[in-house]
Amino acid sequence: MAGITRTDMAGRIMVALDFPDAEQARGLLEALRGIPCYMKVGMQLFYAAGPDFVRGLKDQGYKVFLDLKLHDIPNTVAGGAESIARLGVDMFNVHAAAGRAAMLAAREGVERAAGRSGGTLARPMLIAVTQLTSTGQAMMNDELGIPGTVEDTVLRYAGLAKSAGLDGVVASPLEVTAIKSALGAGFATVTPGIRPAGAEQGDQTRVMTPRDAFAQGTDYVVIGRPITAAADPRTALESILEELNA
Ligand code: C5P
Repeated sequence: MAGITRTDMAGRIMVALDFPDAEQARGLLEALRGIPCYMKVGMQLFYAAGPDFVRGLKDQGYKVFLDLKLHDIPNTVAGGAESIARLGVDMFNVHAAAGRAAMLAAREGVERAAGRSGGTLARPMLIAVTQLTSTGQAMMNDELGIPGTVEDTVLRYAGLAKSAGLDGVVASPLEVTAIKSALGAGFATVTPGIRPAGAEQGDQTRVMTPRDAFAQGTDYVVIGRPITAAADPRTALESILEELNA
């Protein structure tokens, strides 16, 4: 994208470290060494390698999105959010489907962590999951019992998240334009479901290429398997960056 440096571009690519243990994740970090991308730690790696791995990423200077998708009663979400904020991550998330009270509680947990740190802790961005990018309309209507289109639900959840004071949402790139026009350019979007041309779709249903996703106005793209499962992950990431800078 014109006018944006390669470093800035790399900082808007979140690499999903979906690995079963710290050793394999470290292998990928080694392969991508020197490229200042955002690292996303999800449940697979966090449940195996825990807070120490996250602190290690921060010590190495990475920005970290802890993608644990909190979904529980407000009191528990507040406690979870406080523990997450104390790790010093840059972003984490809660399911909008947990409701407004749970999202407000997540914010309260962040404030508690910041307050108790005596001002040393930066507040992480707090975003809401709207609908998973593996969810299609038939599944949402028939299994979840939510009527209407996926976009309707995403917009409703995004509005709810904004009203609870959250900083943005996770959504598919297909919904970015609608979210930005309804809630403003400053309301951040983080978009998984990214597939470079020719990559396998896997279990994702609402997909777009990195270039098209940024053209829609998204702030961050999340890319997992097209990088992590590539024969040469560094080349895969570099060719995405080249395509974006072209
Ligand atoms: O491998 P792939 O590129 O499909 O990885 C996408 C990543 O984004 C995974 O870590 C997945 O958990 C995450 N994610 C998602 N849909 C959401 C939220 C997070 O695919 N709505």
